[in-house]
Amino acid sequence: MKAAILTGGGDCPGLNAVIRAVVRTLHNSGHECIGFLEGWRGAIQGNSIPLKAQETDEIIARGGTILGSSRTNPYKKEEYVGQLVENFHKLGLNALVAIGGDDTLGVAKRLYEEQNLPVVGVPKTIDNDLSCTDFTFGFDTSINIVMEAVDRLRTTAESHRRVMVIETMGRHAGWIACFAGIATASDFTLIPEIEVDVDKMCEVLKQRRAAGKTYGMIIVSEGAKLPAEGLVTKDAEIDEFGHVKLGGIGDTIADLIETRTGIETRVVTLGHLQRGGPPSAYDRVLGTRLGIHAARLVLARQFGQMVALRGLKIVSFPLSEAVGTLRTLDLDFMHEAEEFYKNV
Ligand code: F6P
Repeated sequence: MKAAILTGGGDCPGLNAVIRAVVRTLHNSGHECIGFLEGWRGAIQGNSIPLKAQETDEIIARGGTILGSSRTNPYKKEEYVGQLVENFHKLGLNALVAIGGDDTLGVAKRLYEEQNLPVVGVPKTIDNDLSCTDFTFGFDTSINIVMEAVDRLRTTAESHRRVMVIETMGRHAGWIACFAGIATASDFTLIPEIEVDVDKMCEVLKQRRAAGKTYGMIIVSEGAKLPAEGLVTKDAEIDEFGHVKLGGIGDTIADLIETRTGIETRVVTLGHLQRGGPPSAYDRVLGTRLGIHAARLVLARQFGQMVALRGLKIVSFPLSEAVGTLRTLDLDFMHEAEEFYKNV
């Protein structure tokens, strides 16, 4: 058997752990792997490298993806899908393991259903917003990066008696912001799932200051929406899957806080730092387990499936069930966080 692996969409820590595990598990059964470079672009262009178990053994500790990634959409141009299928057969492939978020896995699902390609999906994203899986790898590393940054920002905020607004990634789901808010004892966290209540946030900051807390920490998710303005976007540029670049809500929130409370406020946008660097132990283990189980699906020729974490077990779901529905933050987490956002 010869299987190809690709990583598509925004990179995230833990991708290399998955690649290593797929390669090793297939190698153990005497099978061969190649990697398409830069996501679907490599599959369309037939751009690939061999992947050997010995050579990929140490990549577990590396962030990003050794294969490169892109947001290329094969369904953007009619001829792309034909080229991709042709390359698949020309290379003598029997399986394709697509590691990606909803966009990449949506393409995998269509290729399986419409082109009969033997595909297995592995969910990844720092945003943790994919259906059918409890957690995605990359998320844990990301919230730890945010936590470390906020811990550092706290000491400068305190020294200057300022409010610090920290803007996180996460697109239209508040997982990163909410978890980071809980882990760093933020004074208030703003998420996309709940319309921003500026009055309440400013009231909490003022009351806490009056009660003796000389600084404030606000975490805002890039997808949080103000009642009047709605989503804040960086520019009008849309990617191949139709997504607009988010970013800038932190500045808006900081201005509002300064104007309404009179407290000096600064903003830090953490941006791509949240996706960089080595994966946490949790993400290395989760990525490894997902990779092993994706390879086992290949060995069992169970295609059209996505591996997923459910409780402590790695299970699988049909790609048709797993893609297309955004998994926003489970609001139970936010209600728990809110215990700490009640005035002083
Ligand atoms: O989906 C992961 C993510 O990091 C989002 O949180 C963020 O909005 C987006 O990707 C940024 O994408 P890019 O790397 O294309 O700027």
